[in-house]
Amino acid sequence: MASPVTFSLFILISTAFLQPTIAFYYEYPQELINGFPPNFIDLTSPTISPSESVNPPIPPTLDSPPRAPALFVIGDSSVDCGTNNFLGTFARADRLPYGRDFDTHMPTGRFCNGRIPVDYLALRLGLPFVPSYLGQTGNVEDMIHGVNYASAGAGIILSSGSELGQHISFSQQIQQVMDTLQQFSLSMGEDAAAEHISNSIFYISIGTNDYIHYYLRNVSNVQSLYLPWSFNQFLASTMKEEIKNLYNANVRKVVVMGLAPIGCAPFYLSQYNSNNGECVHMINDMILEFNFVVRYMVEELAQELIDVDIIFCDAFEASMDIIMNNHIYGLNETANACCGLGPYRGWLMCLTPEMACSNASNHIWWDQFHPTDAVNEILADNVWSGLHTEICYPMNLRNMLAQKARRMI
Ligand SMILES: *[C@@H]1O[C@H](CO)[C@@H](O)[C@H](O)[C@H]1NC(C)=O
Ligand SMILES: *[C@@H]1O[C@H](CO)[C@@H](O)[C@H](O)[C@H]1NC(C)=O
Ligand SMILES: *[C@@H]1O[C@H](CO)[C@@H](O)[C@H](O)[C@H]1NC(C)=O
Repeated sequence: MASPVTFSLFILISTAFLQPTIAFYYEYPQELINGFPPNFIDLTSPTISPSESVNPPIPPTLDSPPRAPALFVIGDSSVDCGTNNFLGTFARADRLPYGRDFDTHMPTGRFCNGRIPVDYLALRLGLPFVPSYLGQTGNVEDMIHGVNYASAGAGIILSSGSELGQHISFSQQIQQVMDTLQQFSLSMGEDAAAEHISNSIFYISIGTNDYIHYYLRNVSNVQSLYLPWSFNQFLASTMKEEIKNLYNANVRKVVVMGLAPIGCAPFYLSQYNSNNGECVHMINDMILEFNFVVRYMVEELAQELIDVDIIFCDAFEASMDIIMNNHIYGLNETANACCGLGPYRGWLMCLTPEMACSNASNHIWWDQFHPTDAVNEILADNVWSGLHTEICYPMNLRNMLAQKARRMI
């Protein structure tokens, strides 16, 4: 068994041998990693200009007062809304067919045909869609209802996903959050900022890439050195420390998302020559274990941190419910992606409109790894109110906010 300390030492040493990673962090400007780059120059000239892509012109209607002042999002491609448009990476969603069913029918950087879970969640909270950190000017007014720091390819481990190119890893995103919160203090005053931050919701959805791009690829011989259990422990303890850092910056309301069953994703169905769309159990077992460990970590934090509201929501449970009861949801295409090529359309990634099915509305999977907007809405509704399945522990987000209101009376 490896302690987190020896493991992180191992990561430090092993990343030193991953030359491409190291090269990235020296080659590109430091402010990209943890600073504040307003309108950062685009490195790869995507088909759309990032500034138009990340701020969809259609604002959702705000018919009731918001139930929280802001939503801040930290994570990977499950919730990236345009960060990677600004980075030099293969992990990008800035061309059609991505976004074809979104409000604007344009690509935005979301890894989906339409909305991602945090879009639906923002609507449930009575907030506008949250803009990406790299996509806005840096004015506090633009960030007051929340900011999305999520970056596709990012993992909890710094170098997870680095073979795809640049990304903003978990710890780097936390650094960016700290910068934003400091700006709030400077512009609003400490007390008002603390009030705002402590009532805002921080949504964390990360960890999949530590499997997809690190553990399952056996980077640095990691599988021989660490059993999934100790690998999970390391990821969870890193996450725990970062949530404590957020807490020290006055964050009090946190949603930690568990991981989806990527063993059922078209990429792995194709890789492992699945029969009849049967999920890859070896991978799902690791994900289940991760979710178990993270849920326990969240319970510990709820005990340790005074006055914190933190919940764990299990995307695995929600997805399995959808797969098993697909007919109820009208999602009878459970195994094939809508966009991609090869078996299960999971062998080659989604690159052009011609690679996509004509209508994604009965599909669970949009591409190799990412669900359709239909699934994202179900997931968000479950996080918000347990509409279809109760997946959050010890309670859903709506009850968490209501409980706080009761406590204040
Ligand atoms: C992981 O890689 C190492 C060498 O890099 C190899 O010896 C080991 O067998 C691999 N483990 C698995 C489970 O593939
Ligand atoms: C799903 O349902 C549609 C329409 O009812 C049908 O055309 C399609 O073949 C079904 N797909 C699967 C995988 O069962
Ligand atoms: C896709 O199919 C659904 C259900 O059959 C239908 O309601 C929807 O309008 C279709 N979407 C498009 C873009 O054709």
